[in-house]
Amino acid sequence: MSSVGIDQISFYTSNYYLDLQTLAKTQNIDPEKYYVGIGQEKMGMPAHDEDIVTMAASAAAPLFSDEASKSISTLLFATETGIDQSKSAGVYVHRLLGLNENCRVVELKQACYSATAAVQMACALVARQPQISVLVIASDIAKYDLDTPGEATQGCGAVAMMIRAEPRILQIDPEVGNYTEDVMDFWRPNYRKTAIVDGKYSTKIYLKSLKKAWQHFAESSQYCFSDLEYFCYHLPFSRMAQKAHRHLSKVNKSTLDAQAIDAQIEGSLLYNKLIGNSYAAALFIGFTSLLENSIEDLSGKRIGFFSYGSGCVAEFFSGKVLPGYEKHLFAAEHATMLNNRQELSYEQYIALYHAPDPREGENVSIVADTTGKFRLAGICEHKREYVAV
Ligand code: CAA
Repeated sequence: MSSVGIDQISFYTSNYYLDLQTLAKTQNIDPEKYYVGIGQEKMGMPAHDEDIVTMAASAAAPLFSDEASKSISTLLFATETGIDQSKSAGVYVHRLLGLNENCRVVELKQACYSATAAVQMACALVARQPQISVLVIASDIAKYDLDTPGEATQGCGAVAMMIRAEPRILQIDPEVGNYTEDVMDFWRPNYRKTAIVDGKYSTKIYLKSLKKAWQHFAESSQYCFSDLEYFCYHLPFSRMAQKAHRHLSKVNKSTLDAQAIDAQIEGSLLYNKLIGNSYAAALFIGFTSLLENSIEDLSGKRIGFFSYGSGCVAEFFSGKVLPGYEKHLFAAEHATMLNNRQELSYEQYIALYHAPDPREGENVSIVADTTGKFRLAGICEHKREYVAV
C-alpha cells in the first residue's frame, strides 16, 4: 500500500492579541506566572467579525491555489466551538472556498481530540481510494470566564491539512494507541459560551491519558520511545507539554538528559506561546511550528504525536517527515501573519470578549474588523452571512 499522510499544512490566527503581561498587570500579579509558570506570552483574540468558519476558510485558502486543487472528495471539520447544532460549519467553508459540489462535508466533535480523529479517518479514506484528496480543518476559539485560572490560556486558531497518498510532508504510521475514560475535567454545556473546567484535575487526567495511550501505542507499534526524535503534544499551554514530555521520558526510562528531552518539543511550542490554546487545532499548529522553526533538517525524522480531548479521549500516533518537506510549507506567510498582528489594550480585549454573540436570533450587522480573507458580515433571520473580504 502507498504511504498516506499530510501533503500540505497551513494555519490562521486572528490579527489581535493580548500580551499576558497586560493581563498580569491588571490582575496585579507577577507576569512570570504566565511567561514561565504556564509558558505563554500572548493570546489571540478573534476580531468582531471572525468565528470558526472565517478562521477555517482563511487557514485553508492557501491550499487551493488553482482550480484543479479544488477537486477534493471530503472536507472533515473538527471543532468544539460549534455554531449550529445541525449544520456543519464546513458547509459554509465549502462555499467560501468554491469547492466542488461532489465533495462530502461533515463536522466532528470530541473536545480537542477531534482533529486527530479526522486525520485518521481521512487517512483511511485515502488508503481505500489513493487518487482522492481529503481536507481536514480544525478551528476553535478557547474562551473561559474572566478572572478564572483558565483566562490566561485563551486563544484562537485554525489549521488546514490536505491528506493524500504519497504525501509531501508527513507519512502517518498506521499503528496508534488510544485511551478513553468518562471524566468531567473540562466541558461546555450547550447553554454556555465559556467552558467549565476543573483545571488541576484536567492536568492530571491529561498525564494519565498520555501514559495509557502511550502504553497502547507501544503494544501496537514497532516503534519505541528512542525511535521518536521529536514530539508534538496537545497544547492547552506550553508548560503542559513540557511536563507531559518529561513524564513520558520518565515512564520510558530515557537516558537523554533534561536539556535533550526539552529540546525534542521546543520547536513545537513557539506558535502556541504566541496565539494561546486553539483546542482541536493546537496539536497540528504545534506540528507546523516544529516544521517551520526547527534548525535541524527534519527529513526522515520520526515524530510522536499526543492528542488529548477532555472528557476524555486521547491518542498517541507517529509519522515520518518526508525529504523536501520544507518546500511545501507556508512558513513565510505564517511569519508575516504573526509579525503583523495588533496588540490590544486591556479595555480593547474586554470589548472583544463581550462582543455580541446572538443566541436568541436577533438580527445583527457586524462591523468590518478582520484582516483575514473572510468575514461574518451579520446574522439575519437566524442565518449567518459570510462573505469574502
Ligand atoms: N513565576 C514563575 N512561575 C510561577 C509564578 C511566578 N511568579 N507563579 C506561579 N507560577 C507557576 C506555579 O508554580 C505553577 O507551576 P507548576 O505547575 O510547575 O507547579 C504554574 O505557574 C501554574 O500556577 P498554578 O499552579 O497556581 O495554577 P493556575 O491557577 O495558573 O492554573 C491551570 C493552572 C489549572 C492549568 C489553569 O490554567 C486552567 O484551569 N487552565 C484551563 C484548563 C487546561 O488548560 N487544562 C489542561 C489540561 S486539559 C486540556 O488539555 C484540554 C484543553 O485544551 C482545555
